[in-house]
Amino acid sequence: MAALNTMFANGARRAAYGAAQAARVLWYTGHYAAGRRLMGPLTAPGDAPYAEEFGPLDRDRLKESFRALFRNDWKNIESGRYRLPPEMRALPSPGKLLKQSRDYLRDAEKVARRKAARGHSEVLTDAAREKYPRYYLQNFHYQTDGWLTAASAERYDMQVETLFTGAASAMRRAALPYIGDVLAGRDAAATRLLDLGSGAGGFLREVKHNWPALQVTALDLSPAYLGKARARLGRWKDIAYAQANAEDTGFADASFDIVTATYLFHELPSAARKTVAAEGARLLKPGGVFILVDTIQYGDEPGFDILLENFPRGFHEPYYDSYCRTDLADLFGQAGFEKRDETIAFLSKASVFERVA
Ligand SMILES: C[S@@+](CC[C@H](N)C(=O)[O-])C[C@H]1O[C@@H](n2cnc3c(N)ncnc32)[C@H](O)[C@@H]1O
Repeated sequence: MAALNTMFANGARRAAYGAAQAARVLWYTGHYAAGRRLMGPLTAPGDAPYAEEFGPLDRDRLKESFRALFRNDWKNIESGRYRLPPEMRALPSPGKLLKQSRDYLRDAEKVARRKAARGHSEVLTDAAREKYPRYYLQNFHYQTDGWLTAASAERYDMQVETLFTGAASAMRRAALPYIGDVLAGRDAAATRLLDLGSGAGGFLREVKHNWPALQVTALDLSPAYLGKARARLGRWKDIAYAQANAEDTGFADASFDIVTATYLFHELPSAARKTVAAEGARLLKPGGVFILVDTIQYGDEPGFDILLENFPRGFHEPYYDSYCRTDLADLFGQAGFEKRDETIAFLSKASVFERVA
């Protein structure tokens, strides 16, 4: 009887998970379609041809990979690797959803104008140049205000989830089992994790939701994004916040057990990527791990290579192509890491590197 009850309870949880994810996918897919109408095709007429290097998109495989992402997410939840995600525990109010929708669609028009004019340097001012590296001062994705304002930070999650039609949070969660592996048999309260380029705090919300005692530091160059993360993660009073460059964090040598970076590396020029990997090695204790989540790279899913080739054309992503060509084992190897594992999660990849040298 107890087994039957458990089966029913699990069936109900699974159905609730499926329904909630389907609703999210529908919501973000609708906004994706509306945004594409405003922004036009990825490659404007007269621009470079659609595919220069890679073959056609494998649409069937893309759909299957999207479904597999959620199947694996559920498997991880069901097997206790992580908890039901926070976005499913507290559903946003209709008022909040409408506000996000209106803001996203209004802003999409501005993004479309910026894209048409190739306007990606609005945030490059003399005042900003004194505070931030040059590569940082761009309107990545043709976003309004770059990384520099509260409005941009507020809008960020809606934009990212829309871009990935509701898959972004599940893709980030591919890193969680690796954090669970580190914590197995360890005291979370005595374990320190640093998240580089923590943005609006979406990933750390997943982390603290699962391991509330873990000692977590959020680091970002943007005071506005850190402010958003602080507001969002307010229920966990022990989180530390640092406004700093991931290339030079100012923390002591060997002061962390885990360093994470989700969707930071493809925003960095190649030299900065090397510096951040080296900084990660300096910050980690021997045996500590660097967990990276970022886009898949060329060859990971050959039928999707054309998507990677075209993405930086439609969205201002100056370092994306070079990231997709980077040998991560080599990049991290040069910094003193050995690659331990990786998981493909739809259009993202979670990779784990152990600090050995
Ligand atoms: C694409 S967002 C990713 C945010 C978040 N990790 C996520 O998963 O959504 C990149 C973030 O990295 C930050 N960033 C970019 N370059 C940085 C640097 N050199 N040092 C620290 N933060 C940086 C930006 O301010 C932004 O918040």
